[in-house]
Amino acid sequence: MIVAIDGPAGSGKSTVARAVAKRCGLTYLDTGAMYRTVALRCLQRSIDLSNAEAVTAVARGCDISFGVAEDGSQTVSEAGEDVTSAIRTAEVDHNVSAAAAVPAVREAMVARQRELGSAGNVVAEGRDIGTVVFPNAEVKVFLTADPKARAHRRAVQRGGEAAGADTAEEQRILDDLVRRDRIDSTREDSPLRPAEGSVKMDSSSMTVEEEVQRIVSLMVAAG
Ligand code: C5P
Repeated sequence: MIVAIDGPAGSGKSTVARAVAKRCGLTYLDTGAMYRTVALRCLQRSIDLSNAEAVTAVARGCDISFGVAEDGSQTVSEAGEDVTSAIRTAEVDHNVSAAAAVPAVREAMVARQRELGSAGNVVAEGRDIGTVVFPNAEVKVFLTADPKARAHRRAVQRGGEAAGADTAEEQRILDDLVRRDRIDSTREDSPLRPAEGSVKMDSSSMTVEEEVQRIVSLMVAAG
């Protein structure tokens, strides 16, 4: 069983994908973390994100793996170094879409994603899971949410309720989300769009539990 969850930034994909994976005993695959890792390594090496050749070389050289922390949360490593927190900064947020728009970078990441998902029983989330990575996924979901709700959720994730109440910070996050969505949905290679046969869900009008139940019922219906 493969469950593909795509959607724009901050739509709640990670939360629901993790919850479905936990409930059903499936492996959770966070493909955004992989593009983030490539962007992080480029920034650390002062590589210009608009230099497709250099960014491709970084992506091809990345050895990305996932693990589990003591508290049960997922960790991301590159060449054995834990990059779980480093890939979640505003700087990475701002630069990741440029790296992800490079076709050869995507080729390298998609190959690794298929390898990680080759055993099946995966809940994968990203932008092109249902369209490109796992087009034969039994369940495909396109998760959206109101942009303001998405920005608020990100602000709270970043710094707790206090940050969620900081409207200037929230506006900055909103601007970045909108910019990122624009790059992700207008790029030539694998743009963000609902896959054929995907079920659209709007997380602004649902609780996480409702989203999980809806996805589990789609899994049951898919056999
Ligand atoms: O999901 P997350 O916000 O962590 O993804 C970060 C970025 O990685 C996205 O904005 C997008 O540019 C890229 N991405 C992608 N394809 C995926 C997953 C993420 O292009 N399957």
